[in-house]
Amino acid sequence: MGNNYKWKMKPLFEERMRELLRDEGDFNEFEKIIHTSPLRFIRCNTLKISCDELFKRLNNKWKVVQPFRNHGEIMLVESELLPGELGNAIEHLLGYYYVQEVSSMMSVLALNPKPGEFVLDLCASPGSKTTQMAATMKNEGTIIANDIKLDRIKILSANLERCGVMNCIAVRNDGAGLCERFAKQNFKFDKILLDAPCSGEGTLRSSPKTFLMWNYKIVKKFSREQRRLFISALKCLKVGGEIVYSTCTHSPEENEEVVDFILKKFPVDVEKVILPLKCRSGVVNWGGKNIDNNVEKCCRIYPQDNDSEGFFIAKFKLLEDLESFRGKND
Ligand SMILES: C[S@@+](CC[C@H](N)C(=O)[O-])C[C@H]1O[C@@H](n2cnc3c(N)ncnc32)[C@H](O)[C@@H]1O
Repeated sequence: MGNNYKWKMKPLFEERMRELLRDEGDFNEFEKIIHTSPLRFIRCNTLKISCDELFKRLNNKWKVVQPFRNHGEIMLVESELLPGELGNAIEHLLGYYYVQEVSSMMSVLALNPKPGEFVLDLCASPGSKTTQMAATMKNEGTIIANDIKLDRIKILSANLERCGVMNCIAVRNDGAGLCERFAKQNFKFDKILLDAPCSGEGTLRSSPKTFLMWNYKIVKKFSREQRRLFISALKCLKVGGEIVYSTCTHSPEENEEVVDFILKKFPVDVEKVILPLKCRSGVVNWGGKNIDNNVEKCCRIYPQDNDSEGFFIAKFKLLEDLESFRGKND
């Protein structure tokens, strides 16, 4: 797309972003970067090839760098490419890498699922984070990958197969209904990823149509849906188990307000996450609401800080069984 301002922020969206980015220079940096094309990040699929081997192989045809010392699997393709070239490359068809924006890789780094664990990926399609989790788990343990949309489940399944994922069962359900059924059977997970459906304000670089689609009603609608999914997810998490909540949006209604709602209603702790990208603290002042100070431990990823897309990540630990907690608090 290059640097052009064909796509404009809607006035209310701009007003809200100025409220989040109070410094004029910061806002200008944000406005500038959202009108540029995203960088071409890929993630080495270590289930199929080592990072060193892939790095050498790709550097025979493109200029590829590994920007993070402790995360050799994250690679950046710096060469100019033809449209579709990343997706059509033989290494991609063989499942040696997954084309994934760097900020989207952070949810799994935060959750850090281990080999042998029992993990739920509640909103999983098209599977960028499911395949990343399977690689982190070395294909050991079990992932239940769920999504509500059949056409997206098909893409998820194709990606699982291409990437050689062997420890995953893909299912199609409303996430909340699925969790309620697991909970009824006392079926509990070590870890849960809730990469929630959202208004997508962080994806303006790769998906400029979001400039047009954005409206406040959508933000409020997603905020309700995110709470519904989150409440149900907690019911099928083990005590001491962890859940990562992530969105690719900036709106506090879909981020800190959801976290605040959960903190006030459930026996959970929000945990600080250390990630290889620059994170800003969660916002505690928004719309005159009284938001729990613990939301400061959440991570806001802004495009102008990391030359990435925008993202939000929060990590929680469940401290007490929900049934006995409810009993005490009724
Ligand atoms: C942000 S995307 C997930 C991206 C995915 N985690 C990845 O990294 O590839 C959100 C997903 O939630 C799904 N979704 C929306 N409502 C849902 C619901 N009620 N239950 C389960 N999945 C839902 C959408 O179909 C969409 O695929």
